[in-house]
Amino acid sequence: MTRPFCELHLHIEGTLEPATIFELAARQGMSLPYADPGELAARYRFSDLQSFLDLYYENMAVLRDEDAFTLMTWAYLQRAHRAGVAHVELFVDPQAHSVRGISEQTVLRGIQRALDRGASELGITSGIIVCVLRDQPVASAHAMLDAVLGADIPVLGMGMDSAEVGYPPSLFAGVFDEARAAGLHVVAHAGEEGPPSYVWEALDVLGAERIDHGIRSLDDAALVARLVRDRIPLTVCPLSNVALKVSPSVAAVPIRRMLDAGLCITINSDDPAYFGGYLDDNLAAIESAHGLTAAELDTLCRNSIEASFVTEERRIGLF
Ligand code: ADE
Ligand code: ZN
Repeated sequence: MTRPFCELHLHIEGTLEPATIFELAARQGMSLPYADPGELAARYRFSDLQSFLDLYYENMAVLRDEDAFTLMTWAYLQRAHRAGVAHVELFVDPQAHSVRGISEQTVLRGIQRALDRGASELGITSGIIVCVLRDQPVASAHAMLDAVLGADIPVLGMGMDSAEVGYPPSLFAGVFDEARAAGLHVVAHAGEEGPPSYVWEALDVLGAERIDHGIRSLDDAALVARLVRDRIPLTVCPLSNVALKVSPSVAAVPIRRMLDAGLCITINSDDPAYFGGYLDDNLAAIESAHGLTAAELDTLCRNSIEASFVTEERRIGLF
């Protein structure tokens, strides 16, 4: 693949391949409740978002020190490089680690060490977006943001993820106010399993600059018009939508409908180790399921650059 894509919806903890989980466990003398990576991989089948999140959080137990975060991130960057990723804005869930006694500083330092290596050895530019776990208390989100702002690794932005239904974005208005006041970019998962009203709230209450997933926005014509008018990008993740039963097949993910509506959509891998593929696999899947033309793939590539938070200098280099 020659097009230089930006990956804008990637949870770094969602890149933990079963073999990497076994490698990290062995390094730390931990035992796992599976005989081998194959037995763990057999559990990577989901009925909805929550069934995935349960395993995703459980597997994070192997991430115990800075080196583990570096190893995981470096493994992703090497694979992303082969997939054609030139720039990544990756998500991390600090609250899922602080609850296990691992500080925000340890998490960010470990990830940044690999990102620095990715820049020098692979030419991949990057930024870190810390996510609020929306199914945890608001006070925990404030504590996370304060710790992140006090750490010595600068972050690009703040997002919001985890179980969606029952946790509307407006619950976290104050935390997002604080993030914006600190100069962070803000994004939010909305409209993955949740209703269009959550997308409206992410825009109007949180000030989200991008919506992660957002495919349920298509159920609300006024919302689509707003997203088109303000050119708010939707970071769509086709293999994720199929794995989590948001869509019955890749063909049913409304890629062409969104493009034809004039929406600025980008293609991303979400949690590639769990959902059957990295960015190149997602692109290949939609290309064959939707018969996308080279011009449409170019549009998706250009959208990813436009939707990114790169500097103007880097943007010109990518185009
Ligand atoms: N955390 C990791 N992947 C997620 C997803 N697809 N939706 C919500 N939270 C997540
Ligand atoms: Zn996601």
